[in-house]
Amino acid sequence: MSEREKMRGGMTRREFSVALGGGLAAAGTATSLAGASATEAAAGAEGVAATHEERRRAARAALQNYHSSAGAKELAPGTIRINFNENPYGPTPKAVAALDACGSAAGRYTDHAEHELTETLAGMHGVKAENVMLGCGSIEVLHVADLVFLGPGKNVVAAEPTFEAVLGYAQVLQANAVKVPLTADYRHDLPRMAAACTSKTGVVYVCNPNNPTGTVVTRKEMAEFLAQVPPGTLVVVDEAYHHFVEEPGYATSVEFIGAYPNMMVARTFSKIYGLAGMRLGYAVGSKENIERMKAELLIANANAGVLAAAAASLKDQEALGATRAKLVGTRTWLCGELKKDGRAYIPSQANFMMIDMGGDAKPYIAKFEEKKILVGRPFGAMPNYMRVTIGTQEEMVAFVRTLREIAPVKA
Ligand SMILES: Cc1ncc(COP(=O)(O)O)c(C=O)c1O
Repeated sequence: MSEREKMRGGMTRREFSVALGGGLAAAGTATSLAGASATEAAAGAEGVAATHEERRRAARAALQNYHSSAGAKELAPGTIRINFNENPYGPTPKAVAALDACGSAAGRYTDHAEHELTETLAGMHGVKAENVMLGCGSIEVLHVADLVFLGPGKNVVAAEPTFEAVLGYAQVLQANAVKVPLTADYRHDLPRMAAACTSKTGVVYVCNPNNPTGTVVTRKEMAEFLAQVPPGTLVVVDEAYHHFVEEPGYATSVEFIGAYPNMMVARTFSKIYGLAGMRLGYAVGSKENIERMKAELLIANANAGVLAAAAASLKDQEALGATRAKLVGTRTWLCGELKKDGRAYIPSQANFMMIDMGGDAKPYIAKFEEKKILVGRPFGAMPNYMRVTIGTQEEMVAFVRTLREIAPVKA
């Protein structure tokens, strides 16, 4: 492989160009309500027509690079990681104990544990086990939703900006993205999103709270929205950050599943439960859709360790409450410090916050890295904003100190 090919991760020049144009990061900006897809634009710029297979491969490669490129570097000791919306306190004590104890169980397949956790989750949400599907992270849940409901000729409707996985997998599946900008106050524009759904819309994605803005859709807004979406479109409500919400008008959308069999809720054990590295998420949805999506999963997709840790976490509500209180407290404290400085930020209901840097955020992201503080990646549609995960109180004190140093407030 030539040096140039190595730089392009083994892809040919044409594939690389397609990946750049249609890659996960670019997908956030390049496909608009009316526009041609980013992959088409990139292929056009190259003066070649990329084949479907080349586009699929390139979109796939861009997705795989998304985490590895951001996290591949070895971290210097003491690095503060407030870039991936992880829980800095990690799993609860009961979950850690379950992980410690699970070594001997590792030699056995997980059928029973999988069944038991599914039953527990169903009970917790007031549904039947047939309404619950486990995933290798909620990413797998989002992936199989796309696999079942999208393909060439179909489209996905989503906010801009939002969490990109559903859009990234849609691109792999040759589906079109229809992006609906957030409102002026950075919330989902649900009336416009509903209006954008047509008979070709396989999936409409609502991230609630929204990553990266931390804003929420209220229960009332969701009810109005669901009544307008065509019944043939799957409504994916991603509640990865559910546990951090304080806004009284917000509620989980699980209650709507009975009335709207075309909707599902995605949840994860990666955030409040602190099990991001163990990979477990789940969907709650109608029996019919869960059956269709389960057919696309890897068989036995949840490992023995995470099944034990997840079950133990659910029995550790006190510890979860304490973690939540600490993170919400630090979030409030951070808002106070930003206010003192007169900095603009988007009030957040999640464990991260968007801060307006008053100019391109990218150089600041790099400066933070030099100071051993990793903050979130840029979001194309909001170039001046920097996404910061809520870390421990100590980490956030260090963050604010460094923010004042590298981006002093103008008098
Ligand atoms: C909104 C949202 N959904 C889903 C995920 C994926 O989480 P996981 O696959 O770890 O469950 C993330 C990860 O950050 C996210 O922000």
